[in-house]
Amino acid sequence: MTMRFDGRVAIVTGAGGGLGRSHALALAARGARVVVNDLGGARDGSGGSSSAADSVVAEIMALGGEAMANAASVTDAAAVQTMVEATMARWGRIDILVNNAGVLRDKTFAKMDLDDFRFVMDVHLMGAVHCTKAVWDIMRDANYGRVVMTTSSSGLYGNFGQSNYGAAKMALVGLMQTLSIEGARNDIRVNCLAPTAHTRMTEDLGARLPLELLEPEMVTPGLLNLVSDDAPSRCILAAGAGGFERAYITLTQGAWIAGQDAPEQVAARFKEISDRSGEIVPEMGAAQGMIELSKAQAVHK
Ligand code: NAI
Repeated sequence: MTMRFDGRVAIVTGAGGGLGRSHALALAARGARVVVNDLGGARDGSGGSSSAADSVVAEIMALGGEAMANAASVTDAAAVQTMVEATMARWGRIDILVNNAGVLRDKTFAKMDLDDFRFVMDVHLMGAVHCTKAVWDIMRDANYGRVVMTTSSSGLYGNFGQSNYGAAKMALVGLMQTLSIEGARNDIRVNCLAPTAHTRMTEDLGARLPLELLEPEMVTPGLLNLVSDDAPSRCILAAGAGGFERAYITLTQGAWIAGQDAPEQVAARFKEISDRSGEIVPEMGAAQGMIELSKAQAVHK
């Protein structure tokens, strides 16, 4: 069956270009009314103008879709609140939030100013927090919501020169883990998308990559699945060039070790602790403690 979003209202942040634009166009093409948010700044977050968002709205309208532009910075909680209020005033609901806005300020950790670290955390992490917080009660009251955080392989696995960006992107995974638990009773599903695409954010890598395979449009089918009626929750979906994968935060079976020589035993049995056979994906944080206690109780009974 064709995936449709008729009647749904979606906010896509950072939708003036790149991946956000592709997500916004696809949601609108499949029936959603879309708020195209974009600050319209440079790749490092400097400057700003509403023209980026306006031009994507014009594209959507030219294709017969419905959209409105918004130039709020996601770092500005009050401006985000105003965006949400304007959306409610115009369309009366918010079903989907795609936290996509992002910036880069790459440097090795040795050379990085704390201001650049804080700024990147602010845009990616606090930007997503502001937007999600502003729609959360609306979604709870409606008993329906689909929220996506845009994470990154740089956060999940690391990347040279991206300590600020990677930390922020992994923080979004942590945010998703708890919000998916807290949102479940109101059918609010929260997921992460880890994209790979040729955009201005990755243009420096351009010369080394087959760019024609890395269109943002190849990622968007993954995003649509994460915000559809039948969306999963608490999923980290990786997508790029038509490849789709899932990433998991896992826990190994490990070992039980205690006593005077426990430090030496942890070292001696590190291979066993690290053995991935039988590893699990815990359903919540408490699972780790329960598994550890059950190991101890098995020894003490
Ligand atoms: P992009 O630079 O084309 O898009 C980011 C958009 O966010 C820009 O249009 C920018 O104006 C907007 N933006 C920046 N700060 C903002 C703010 N404070 N408020 C509102 N809008 C703001 O880059 P791209 O690649 O499309 O990035 C989209 C998301 O995907 C980002 O979160 C990025 O970190 C993430 N990502 C991209 C990857 C890639 O391969 N392109 C890889 C992994 C993650």
